[in-house]
Amino acid sequence: MTEPAPGFPDQVTIYEVGPRDGLQNEKSVVPVEVKAEFVRRLVAAGLGTIELTSFVPAKWVPQLGDAEELLELLGPVAAGQQRPVLVPNERGLDRALERGVKAVAVFGSATETFARKNLNRTVEESLEMFAPVVQRALDSGAWVRGYVSMCFGDPWEGPVPVTQVVDVCSRLMDLGCDQLSIGDTIGVGTTGHVSRLLDALDAAGIGVDQIGVHFHDTYGQALANTMTALSHGVSVVDASAGGLGGCPYAKSATGNLATEDLVWALDGLGIDHGADLDALVETSVWMAGQLGRPSPSRVVKALAG
Ligand code: HMG
Ligand code: MG
Repeated sequence: MTEPAPGFPDQVTIYEVGPRDGLQNEKSVVPVEVKAEFVRRLVAAGLGTIELTSFVPAKWVPQLGDAEELLELLGPVAAGQQRPVLVPNERGLDRALERGVKAVAVFGSATETFARKNLNRTVEESLEMFAPVVQRALDSGAWVRGYVSMCFGDPWEGPVPVTQVVDVCSRLMDLGCDQLSIGDTIGVGTTGHVSRLLDALDAAGIGVDQIGVHFHDTYGQALANTMTALSHGVSVVDASAGGLGGCPYAKSATGNLATEDLVWALDGLGIDHGADLDALVETSVWMAGQLGRPSPSRVVKALAG
């Protein structure tokens, strides 16, 4: 049943991260044909923005060592669709541009410990690494997203001060990013904290129209945090089909907000998003079969029958 409520956006862009964030932590390498079929099914389910993979060294993320092959198998991107890829450095950008990629994401950290573990750099050094990546990507006509990880808590450093997060966010926006993605990498954030961070970003000149939210669901807070962000006017939400996901360099990271759980909530409010829930559930059940374990998504469990 649809029951609209005031204070939410009319339309939400689902930024699907299943093929990248969802799969990057899988221990056994998923065949590239299965990944391509996963993406095709997500497209058929109506998702317009799908993050495909990462152009990082295979020794850092073995699961995504087939980035070139995946893009080759998928072929050209249809007009009006977006298929971002992660690029940490100029080498990654070169690889992506050679494949005709038109949307890239750099990925920074609000904390020093995670910057070192995930990028082998300090926060400052990683921003220096991103500067030419963002500039060259923009010069090539590409769209650029800047992720910020550990925006709420960090497994090594504990709670992360809002001012520290806003500082890294501002630095990334100053580099020229088109959009920020606020990451709760280990899923510890709660709704009041989300409000406080969005207010602080707004006060720093980063409005909700420039922000996407990226909540992992480790403590079951991802959907509540997303709804809080939507009530602040955010209209880009990262989610992963079936709730797949995690970060290989952050032990306590589990899956992202499940796309199906998000779609259920949006449908209930009559918010436009363009995705077909039944097709998504079918895709996640199929993917769970490929991975050999059930989807953690409550909505997939409820509807899979
Ligand atoms: P490094 O070892 O310091 O790299 O890693 P380097 O620059 O010293 O290069 C080492 C070797 O790798 C060299 O080769 C380079 O050419 C090569 P060699 O000379 O030894 O033969 N190399 C590359 N090869 C292919 N593609 C490249 C590339 N770059 C260098 N792009 C580096 C530094 C940044 C590369 C590494 O730390 C890295 O790739 N880290 C990425 C880790 C990662 O992918 N983590 C998961 C994604 S982030 C995430 O999940 C969080 C997010 O979801 C948001 C949230 O939840 O918070 C986004
Ligand atoms: Mg993530």
